[in-house]
Amino acid sequence: MNSKEPTANPFREGLSSRTVPEPCSVIIFGATGDLTRRKLIPALYNLAADGNLPSSVKIIGFARRSKSDGAFRADLEEATRQFSRQPVDDAVWETFADQVFYHCSEFDDLEGYRSLSAKLDAMDKKEGTCGRRLFYMAAGPDQFPSILKNLRESGLNKAPEGGWARVILEKPFGKDLPTARELNRLAGEAFPEADTFRIDHYLGKETAQNIMVLRFANSIFEGMWNARCIDHVQILSSEPLGVEGRGGYYDKSGALRDMVQNHLLQLLCLTAMEPPTDLSANSIRDEKVKVLRSLRPIRRGGSLPVVVRGQYAEGAVHGKPVPGYRQEADIPPDSATETYVALEVNIDNWRWAGVPFFIRIGKRLPKFATEIAVHFKAVPPVLFQGISGGLDHNVLVIRIQPDEGVSLRMSAKMPGSSLRIEPVKMDFHYGTSFGKASPEAYERLLLDAMSGDATLFARCDEVEEAWRFIDEVREGWDADDAGLCFYPAGSWGPEEADALLARHGLTWRRV
Ligand code: BG6
Repeated sequence: MNSKEPTANPFREGLSSRTVPEPCSVIIFGATGDLTRRKLIPALYNLAADGNLPSSVKIIGFARRSKSDGAFRADLEEATRQFSRQPVDDAVWETFADQVFYHCSEFDDLEGYRSLSAKLDAMDKKEGTCGRRLFYMAAGPDQFPSILKNLRESGLNKAPEGGWARVILEKPFGKDLPTARELNRLAGEAFPEADTFRIDHYLGKETAQNIMVLRFANSIFEGMWNARCIDHVQILSSEPLGVEGRGGYYDKSGALRDMVQNHLLQLLCLTAMEPPTDLSANSIRDEKVKVLRSLRPIRRGGSLPVVVRGQYAEGAVHGKPVPGYRQEADIPPDSATETYVALEVNIDNWRWAGVPFFIRIGKRLPKFATEIAVHFKAVPPVLFQGISGGLDHNVLVIRIQPDEGVSLRMSAKMPGSSLRIEPVKMDFHYGTSFGKASPEAYERLLLDAMSGDATLFARCDEVEEAWRFIDEVREGWDADDAGLCFYPAGSWGPEEADALLARHGLTWRRV
C-alpha cells in the first residue's frame, strides 16, 4: 500500500462533503404549473426537511393567476403531501411554507418584473438573501423569450453587489437546432454561460452520476471499456405510462425530441466519454461534447435503416385495457407522432470504432426501466465448445431506475461431477448497500444551481450538438411518411425494431 498521505481528492470531497448553500431567493416562473407542484416544491421541501437548505431561502412563485400567499401555500402543501419523497412533517412544513410567497404578473408585463425587483431588494435587506437570486423557468417554453427579455429590461439579470443572478432553463430547450441556437442567444444576452443552468433531470439521478464513478474509480473496468473488449451497448428507457394529460405538448414533440435528444444522449455520453482532465463542469462537458461530435450522422437514404419509430395502438398494460395514442386526449386521430424509437448509434472515434450503441425508448411498454447494458465480447471459442449450458457473454448492467444498482453477468460452473456452465449474476443494489433512499434528481440539481455548480447541467454547445444529430434523423422521417410502425400498448414495441439488432446477430436484452 502507498504510505504517502492521501492528497486532496476533489471527487471525494464533492461526493461526501457538500456544503449547505448560502441564503438566496428562488424565483419560479410558472409557479402554478405541474412541474412546480410535482417536482420543484416537493424537492425544495425535502431539502429543507433534510437540513440541506438554509432556513432563509425564500421562494417566490411568479405566475399569471391572481392568488394570495396563503392560497398559494395551501395549494403547494396539498401537492407536496401527494408528491414528496418522504412524508410531510407538519412542523417542518410550517417553517418551510413561511418562506414561500406569490407574485402575480403576466410574463410579458415589465411592471411585474419591476415590482418583483423591489420585493427582492426589500427581502435582501430584511432577510439576508443579499442579492443572491436563482430564476427558474418552469413556464411553457413559449414564454422563455419574453421572461428573459423582461429580466434583462428590469435589470434583474444583473446581481446586486455581493450577490449573484442565475437562471435555470427547463426542457424542452428548443425543438431543433435553429430554435435551440436562438434560445441560447437570448439566454446569453441576459446571463453569462457560467450562470445559465440547462436542466436535464436524468443527470441528477443518483445512478447516472454513478456512471463516472463506476468507470473511473474502479481499475477493473476502464482498461476494458473500448472496442477491443466491448461488443455493443444497449440503452433502454421504457415506461408503462402513456402521455398522461400532456397530449398537447407531446404530439408536437414525440419521443425523439422528448427523451432521446436530452436524457438518452446524456446517458450515452456518460458511458462513452473519455476520462475528463479533472472534475470541473467544463472538463466533463468538454468530453461529452466530443462524443456528440463523433456521432455518425443518420442521414436520409442510408443503405440500411438504423432507426425505427413506433406509435402505440390500443392494448393492455399490466392487464388493464388502455386506448391507443391516437385516441388519447388532445391527439389528432391521424397523428404520426412517435411514442417509441429504436436506433443504432455509431461513435466514430478511436475508442468505439465498430461498437454499435442501440437506444430503445418508448411509452406504454410493459415495464418501467432505464438501464445501460454493456455487452462484452465472447471469449475465444477454444476451451468450452460443446459443453452443456453454453457460454454467455459478460454483461454489465447499470440500472438507472428503478431498483438502482449495477449487476454483472458471468459464466460459472454448476456444482456437480460434470462440467456444465451457467450464467450467474453479481448484483449491487443501492437500497441495500447504502441503506438510504436516493434523493430525487431535482433536489440534487436545485442544490447544485444554488451552489453555482454546473457539472450536472448541459452547456450551450452540448445542447446544440445533440440537436444537430437529432435534426438529421427527423429530416429523414419527414421525407418518409410511411415509416411509422404500430405496436400494441403493453408490448415491447414494433417488431421492425428487432431487425436493427438481428442483422448484427443480436437481440434486445430482456428486462
Ligand atoms: C420527461 C419526459 O423529461 O421525462 C417525459 O418529458 C418522461 O415524457 C419523463 O415521462 C421520464 O422521466 P423519469 O424520471 O420518470 O424517467
